[in-house]
Amino acid sequence: MPRLFGKSKSADNAPVSVDERLCHIAFIMDGNGRWAKSRGMPREYGHSKGAETFKKIVRYCGDIGIKIVTVYAFSTENWSRPDAEVRRIMSLLGEYIDGAERELDENKIRYVFLGDKDAFDAHLRERMINLEQISAGYELRLNIAANYGGRAEIVRAASILASRGEEITEASLSSCLYTAGCPDPDLIVRTANEQRVSNFLLWQGAYSEYYFTPTLWPDMTPDDVDAAVRDFYSRGRRYGGVVNK
Ligand code: FPP
Repeated sequence: MPRLFGKSKSADNAPVSVDERLCHIAFIMDGNGRWAKSRGMPREYGHSKGAETFKKIVRYCGDIGIKIVTVYAFSTENWSRPDAEVRRIMSLLGEYIDGAERELDENKIRYVFLGDKDAFDAHLRERMINLEQISAGYELRLNIAANYGGRAEIVRAASILASRGEEITEASLSSCLYTAGCPDPDLIVRTANEQRVSNFLLWQGAYSEYYFTPTLWPDMTPDDVDAAVRDFYSRGRRYGGVVNK
């Protein structure tokens, strides 16, 4: 079976693996600021550590057989944060794109940015578009939600259909979302003790299982992913119907 993101050090003893019931996992990476504050450090330090954790966690998800990972990297509301913090997150995104380009042949991943790219600096925007284009042929997928908001995404999709004079159905609307063609997330994990959706994948998460953990994102480990995966498999998904557990 092809594996997402190659092999990590922890793969040899991977204590869990997944099947087709868990194709897509999404993360709301919360708690970077609190993690930094608890160490007397600026919030930007938390984001730098959070970006390292992000790389480790998506790699681990690949090792256990997950085909699609989505992360909430920057919301439409996050522009209101202090300039230095926004700048740091933008530079982390740029650095991540550098690495993704360098390792493209090795990792064989399709990168998709969910959100309105127009708000980004022109150089960063071009690099996002380029990474999407050069990786478009790969099947395994990493969605990075950046300048993303779930309500805005639904409004945009409805506007596209209206401007084309097309009927609005669940299928047509789905086809105009940033995630068009991508299966909905099976499991959405939020760190840092917050039990909110925060405008993330509002449409796509309609039947997702949610898992909340007190772990702050920078402290997230493969063991925490295992706990979320085990919890997922302990649940019965009924999609509104009745299924024996
Ligand atoms: C939420 O924590 C986190 C963010 C708004 C930014 C997430 C960004 C990264 C993990 C790094 C960049 C990502 C990529 C893909 C390279 P918070 O700052 O709201 O934490 P707090 O609630 O403790 O203040």
